[in-house]
Amino acid sequence: MPQTYNPQLGREHSYPYEHREEERDWHWGMVINTNRCINCNTCSFACKSTWTSGEGEEYMWWMNVETEPYGGYPMGWDMRLLDDLGPDETIFEAAEDGEQVRGYVAAKEEWEYPALGDDQSHGEYPAGDVVESDPDNEQYHDMWQFYLPRLCNHCKNPACLAACPRQAIYKREEDGIVLLDQERCRGYRRCVKSCPYHKPMYNPETGISEKPVGCFPRIEDGNVPRCVSSCIGKTRLHGNINRGPDAGHPNDVSSAADGRSPINYLVKSDEKVALPLYPQFGTRPQVFYMPPYHVPPEFLTQMFTPNVDEKRNDWPGSTYEESVKIVQQRARDPSHHVLGILQLFGATTRLIETYRVKENRVKGWDRKGKKVVDMPIEEPMEVREGEQWTNQ
Ligand code: SF4
Ligand code: F3S
Repeated sequence: MPQTYNPQLGREHSYPYEHREEERDWHWGMVINTNRCINCNTCSFACKSTWTSGEGEEYMWWMNVETEPYGGYPMGWDMRLLDDLGPDETIFEAAEDGEQVRGYVAAKEEWEYPALGDDQSHGEYPAGDVVESDPDNEQYHDMWQFYLPRLCNHCKNPACLAACPRQAIYKREEDGIVLLDQERCRGYRRCVKSCPYHKPMYNPETGISEKPVGCFPRIEDGNVPRCVSSCIGKTRLHGNINRGPDAGHPNDVSSAADGRSPINYLVKSDEKVALPLYPQFGTRPQVFYMPPYHVPPEFLTQMFTPNVDEKRNDWPGSTYEESVKIVQQRARDPSHHVLGILQLFGATTRLIETYRVKENRVKGWDRKGKKVVDMPIEEPMEVREGEQWTNQ
């Protein structure tokens, strides 16, 4: 079987197709700041009303928000699969005889509760009235929960694509979006079984499967996906994950920009502040999460780093747990540059290709080089002179 280098794991592993991801100039990607998510599910409903409101699509939530650590849609989607993988084993290496990918089929009732565990926190309720911080480490709470928005990752090693015997799933040349060709699909459902994030879903009315489409018509028009533009918490930034510091300034993009895309900076710069979800699966997901900074890093380590003891690539700490702590700290107390990029989240419905942080302003340009954002990073604060109101 062909081997592929996986930078999220820092090693090679098998993947059933030859491919050439790093040559693609433009690749769909997203960064989600979990610290801003309030579980309002505006994203989920925006996605559902746009894409999955027809017959046979009743249980299809291409976008959903889970409450960690108890939520999950389908139930237990992550733990069930992780339990089947050996340490340091991807879903491709763990495939059973006759299959390309290790997966499982969720039962009907496991799809019936998309908001299971909503608002259920972890930890014992305190005897007193106040939830205190962990005395051993003041950054983390004794009781905690957080919201995890989930969607198709438009993976660079898509398991759904690898598993389909009809080759009905493909990755678009121009932007890496993973699509399912409904004319070719015969309803074999290997895609449903193999996606570790459980995003392809079977439609019993039509007898074929469907999967998230990355809002490709909006991307083609230079707009961000619906889940991004509708998010009232401004949790997300979408764009070209492959546009790195060496991208230069082609004619169609403003030379005033820093060159790389803002999400590339958040994910791949020395200031890495966003991590992939379950990279140990091996699919190279392209949605990255700024981790919640009040949650103990032991929990986040199993969720956002490879499941191995040793650290083998460019993660910032000396161990994976150390890396998570560093990234949490950067999310809690961002540098001026990251703060500037954070202002771009939710600032426009246009897709920001390049940006510049300079002094107290951040600017963004679209793919045609048109400026679409220009705003201050920190608003001036005015302190009124004179008598203050006091509670006398
Ligand atoms: Fe395919 Fe699942 Fe990856 Fe989406 S998240 S590209 S459906 S393997
Ligand atoms: Fe292939 Fe999935 Fe259809 S495996 S045939 S795309 S149901």
